[in-house]
Amino acid sequence: MRKTVEVSAEELRESLDAAARLKEELKGRDLRYYIESYGCQMNDHDAEKLSGMLQACGYSPAPSKEEANLLLFNTCCVREHAEKRVFGNIGALKKRKENEPGLLIGVCGCMMQQREVAERLYKRFPFVDLIFGTHELHHFPLLLSRSLSGERVLSIRESDGEIAEGLPVVRGGSFSTFVTITYGCNNFCSYCIVPYVRGRERSRSPENIVAEVRTLAEQGFREITLLGQNVNSYAHADDGVDFPELLCRVNAVDGIERIRFMTSHPKDLSPRLIEAMATLPKVCNHIHLPVQSGSNRILTAMNRCYTREKYLGLVRDIRAAVDGIELTTDIIVGFPGETEEDFSETLSLVQEVGFSAAYTFMYSPRLGTRAAAMEGQIPEEVKKERLLRLNACSAEQLRAGNQKYVGKSGTVLVEGFDRREKTPMAFGKLTNFKMVYFPGGEELIGSMQNVKITGTQNNSLIGVLAE
Ligand code: 5AD
Ligand code: SF4
Repeated sequence: MRKTVEVSAEELRESLDAAARLKEELKGRDLRYYIESYGCQMNDHDAEKLSGMLQACGYSPAPSKEEANLLLFNTCCVREHAEKRVFGNIGALKKRKENEPGLLIGVCGCMMQQREVAERLYKRFPFVDLIFGTHELHHFPLLLSRSLSGERVLSIRESDGEIAEGLPVVRGGSFSTFVTITYGCNNFCSYCIVPYVRGRERSRSPENIVAEVRTLAEQGFREITLLGQNVNSYAHADDGVDFPELLCRVNAVDGIERIRFMTSHPKDLSPRLIEAMATLPKVCNHIHLPVQSGSNRILTAMNRCYTREKYLGLVRDIRAAVDGIELTTDIIVGFPGETEEDFSETLSLVQEVGFSAAYTFMYSPRLGTRAAAMEGQIPEEVKKERLLRLNACSAEQLRAGNQKYVGKSGTVLVEGFDRREKTPMAFGKLTNFKMVYFPGGEELIGSMQNVKITGTQNNSLIGVLAE
C-alpha cells in the first residue's frame, strides 16, 4: 500500500495567495468564465475545483460560452472520439479570438497530460493561451496569473501524483454531490490510458473525507457519490482504513441519506464490501461494476484479473445479499483479437446478468497502452456492427427488467423536471439508480418522494406520487 503524499501546505498557500492577489489586481473588471468539461465524473468534479479557484481569483460564471472572456476546456482522452471533439471545438474559436483579442483560452485535463498531444495542440492553435496537465490543477491560479500578464503557458509536470487538499470548490448541485476518495489507478488494463494521465492510485485520508462529507451535510446535501477510478481498492496506509470501513464512517454522518460510489473493479469486490452494502442503511443498492467483456480470453488480454465465472459469481453473491440491487456496467466491443465467438460470450453474459444499464464503447486504441500495439486490431465496421447488436441485446434486457417494477413503490430523490411534456414531469432516481418520471413540478426538486410505478417508457420507469 502506497503512502499518501499530500501537496504541502506552503505550496497550496502559494497558489491560493496568487488567487487572492489576482482578485485584488483584477478588481472592477468584468471577468466571466465558462468551463467545457468532457468525460467522466472525476473530470466534472475537477471542473468544480477549477470553478472554485476561478471565483477565488475574482471571476464569475458566464451564462453562456459566448458571454465568457475566459474559456477553459477540461479534456478527456479515454477514447479517440473525445479527443477529436476537443480539437474541433478549439479550432472553431480562431475567428472569435481574432475579433476578441482579450478572450483567454485555456485547455487542461487528461488529454493535456499527454505531452505529445499537448505540444501538438500548442503548435496547431497559436491562439490558445494556456495549457496544463492534470498534475498542475492545484497550480491553476499561478498559471492563470502568468497567462494574464501576456505569457503563453504550456505546463505539464510528470508526477505519480499528490493529493491537493483544501482547494476551493464550487459545486454544481445543492442536494447531491461528489466526494473524491481516490485519485489515479494502478490497474493498467491494457486498453486504458488513465493510469498514464492520472498517476498512481492514492487514497485521501478518511478524516479528510469524513470532514468533507460532514460539511456537505451541514450545507444541506443529502446524497453523496464517492468517486475514484477504482473506489473499492481504497486503502489508507496510515491507519489501515479500507473501503468497507470508510463506507461505515460516511454512513455515520448525520444528514446524509444516500451514499453511492463509483467505479468499482470486480477484482476488489470483497465479501466485506458486499456485507457493508447489505447492512449499512444509507449505502444505496446499486453498483456500477464494469465487466468489459464476457470472454475469458479477452479478459486476460485486457489484464482485468477476473474470469467470466468469477464475475457471474459476484453478481450472484451481491444479489443474494443486497435487497433489490441493480447493476450497471461498461463494455468494450472490438478489443484486438475479439472473434465472433468472444463477442457472443459478451452477449450471453449480458443476457445472463440483466444489467439495468450498460455503457458500451467501441475499442479505441490509445497511444502508449499495451493493447494499441497488439495484433488483430478489429476493423471499424465490425466494431460498429457489434456495438449495435450489443445495444439491442442490452435494451431488450432492460425492457424485461423494467417490467418487474410495475405496481411497486419506491422513494425518489427528485433531480429535475421536464416542462416539455404536456403534463410537467418530475424525475429522479430510486436508491437502486432506476430513473423514474412522474407528474410533478419544479418545487419538488431536492425532495424525497414516494412514487408508485405505473409503467415504463424507453429506459425509465413512469409513476405517480403515492398516497
Ligand atoms: N477504448 C474504448 N473504451 C474504453 N474505455 C476505457 N478505455 C477505452 C478504450 N481505449 C471504457 C471502459 C471504461 C470506461 C470508462 O471507458 O469501458 O470502463
Ligand atoms: Fe482504466 Fe482499468 Fe484503471 Fe478503470 S481500472 S481506470 S479501466 S486502468
